[in-house]
Amino acid sequence: MSTADRFTGSRFPVTRLRRFRRTGALRELVRETRLDVGDLVYPLFVCPGEGVENPLERLDAIVQRSVDLLCNEAEEAHALGIQAVLLFGIPESKDEEGSGAWEDDGIVQRALRALSERVPELVLVTDVCLCEYTSHGHCGVVEDGEIVNDLSLDLLARTAVSHAEAGADVIAPSDMMDGRVGAIRAALDADGFEDLPILSYAAKYASAFYGPFREAAGSAPSFGDRRSYQMDPPNIREAMRECELDLAEGADALMVKPALAYLDVVAAARARFDVPIFAYNVSGEYAMLKEAAAHGWLDERRAVLESLTAIKRAGADVIVTYWAKDVARWL
Ligand code: PBG
Repeated sequence: MSTADRFTGSRFPVTRLRRFRRTGALRELVRETRLDVGDLVYPLFVCPGEGVENPLERLDAIVQRSVDLLCNEAEEAHALGIQAVLLFGIPESKDEEGSGAWEDDGIVQRALRALSERVPELVLVTDVCLCEYTSHGHCGVVEDGEIVNDLSLDLLARTAVSHAEAGADVIAPSDMMDGRVGAIRAALDADGFEDLPILSYAAKYASAFYGPFREAAGSAPSFGDRRSYQMDPPNIREAMRECELDLAEGADALMVKPALAYLDVVAAARARFDVPIFAYNVSGEYAMLKEAAAHGWLDERRAVLESLTAIKRAGADVIVTYWAKDVARWL
């Protein structure tokens, strides 16, 4: 029985749903979903050098910054009320293994040390992956043109531990190798980081919407694509298995990525798992609205707030978005 049927006479003209839509204050009062600046994570890209700031054309929040300017940006974001950033590194040089990912003075490690000092309260989430550090641009070890799962686990675990040592607050593996959460959990625990949470990119799809990011992170694969490890977009039951397995391996929170084309996956994960659910509003989603707004085809602020609210309404607790600073100002 629907709620409407439970009340006798609860139909038009007795019932008029427009009554609570009449004024802004009434709408505000009965609003079911609210965005809060505390829900947002701001992605940041760190590159070598000093005084470096390279924005992607027209996508002004996707910027490579050297450590000094990264600190300024993080400080500004924190002053606006943003509590967490997600760090990606662009190393000086790349190699077959992606050794820049776990070097003690690697780019992310240096950024972590500087940020912990400059903005101590800011939550530092690090993306753990090899693709920005490997010469071939894949997220794991390559042998004979194949991405080899088990050999990659040790490298990912080393990367996670080096981030922990440099001051990361949350470790977020995004590589999609099987077993990586367990490998990372074991390595962190063995090194005394049993209190450090793992946010697993559990349901990460092989998506066309990562285009601008790969340019910003210099991480496009040099051959093939990521479909042998990232998920096939049509699958949702498999996404639930990914989530289940990652939780069993010790994940503390789950991420669905991308967000807007996968709201059903966000909702399903929300319904099934009582852990924090993150959704990543990715670079291609950002680019679409940015470009439309640049042409005057839609109002950026309204379209962004509507999209991010939809991600929350679907069930996400936390949203990773390039609009974090704008939203902080708009709210
Ligand atoms: C991989 C990674 C990617 C993104 C975050 N981490 C890209 C990929 O899998 O190719 C995409 C983020 C975005 O598009 O905003 N480490």
